[in-house]
Amino acid sequence: MSDKHQSGGVTTTGHVWDNDLADFTNQPPKWWMLGLTVSALWCVAYALYYPTIPISSGQGSFTKGLGNWTAISEMEADQSVVDAVRSKYEAKLAGMTPAAILGDKELTEYVKRSGKVLFGDNCAACHGQNGVGARDKEGLIAPLLNDDDWMYGGQINAIYTSIADGRNGMMPPHKDALSEAELDTLAKAIAAGQPTSTPLFTEKNCIACHGPDGKGMHAMGSVNLTDSIWRFDSSVETIKAVIKYGVNSGDPKGRQAVMPSFKAAGKLSEADMKKLAVYVYQFGGGQPEEVAAAPAAPAETATDAAPAATAEPAAAAPIDAAPKQ
Ligand code: HEC
Ligand code: HEC
Repeated sequence: MSDKHQSGGVTTTGHVWDNDLADFTNQPPKWWMLGLTVSALWCVAYALYYPTIPISSGQGSFTKGLGNWTAISEMEADQSVVDAVRSKYEAKLAGMTPAAILGDKELTEYVKRSGKVLFGDNCAACHGQNGVGARDKEGLIAPLLNDDDWMYGGQINAIYTSIADGRNGMMPPHKDALSEAELDTLAKAIAAGQPTSTPLFTEKNCIACHGPDGKGMHAMGSVNLTDSIWRFDSSVETIKAVIKYGVNSGDPKGRQAVMPSFKAAGKLSEADMKKLAVYVYQFGGGQPEEVAAAPAAPAETATDAAPAATAEPAAAAPIDAAPKQ
């Protein structure tokens, strides 16, 4: 189109609609052209600097870019910054006992924050995320770790020993020692949290392991049968099955319950096991090493224990102390 069309003094494309509608042929504004050019240059520069074009589907077969940048190298650089911060704590941890770590506020804070992955990778499959427990059809696979009811003791060293050396509680099968009626009576008494309410508990020698009061013994992991916290499950059916076939008893119908030794497995470093002990302690159920430490015990211990009427001397101390405040 050589001859210029005009409309009101402005050049147009020559098309006219509805008698007076025409397209102008103005150049785009300067700022817009500048933006277009800059973004085109940006694309070229970006494509040259970063890995851009896949050449074939094989690993590493792409244009590498002038900047030598890869996502992995960036991640590694970030990681080394993190490692530098962590190594300060890790070095300090290595030479300390679990109890000493627990006594150090800063280290305990560090373990609380960094232990989650370690626990998730190694423990959560059996104990549940944050120790809330995981179940199969026969009840809990492994005991809850976020309460203050312990099979083997909640002191920091007992927890460490559980992790490092493993645990393997044994209860023999009683299927031949009990009639169906006796089994029923015992199971119901235990389900109600009152094992000693039936003389069978003593007569059938359950007290040898569970203690005359039915509260269990940490030395052999014989659980407390008087509280509402269960190793396996609260149902009378499950309780009957445990009494009949036992735990780790060799009876084919018996319950298997083995806490693996992480020291023997060689899967975790000494430092990792110490961190995990502190991490588990910090779930909230950790207990002081000595009864003498009772005055420092938090007040919640007393309120928790009081309604259950299981207040022990250690738990009772803060109550006695209360009027003085
Ligand atoms: C293969 C399943 C399994 C894995 C994995 C496992 N546990 Fe256990 N854990 C158990 C079982 C089962 C018991 C109870 C043993 C028993 O019934 O005698 C237990 C007991 C414990 C106890 C003692 C609890 C108490 O009440 O005294 C602690 C503490 C513990 N585990 C911590 C850990 C930590 C920390 C890890 C990860 C490093 C871990 N466990 C990994 C199965 C497991
Ligand atoms: C040789 C010691 C021993 C004797 C005897 C024994 N128990 Fe046990 N019992 C244990 C241990 C240890 C456990 C915990 C097993 C484990 O998980 O490792 C247990 C667990 C249990 C549980 C599971 C509780 C829960 O929280 O799920 C019940 C119920 C139980 N015993 C009832 C009895 C009764 C009833 C008798 C007597 C007929 C008895 N036990 C005799 C050692 C014993």
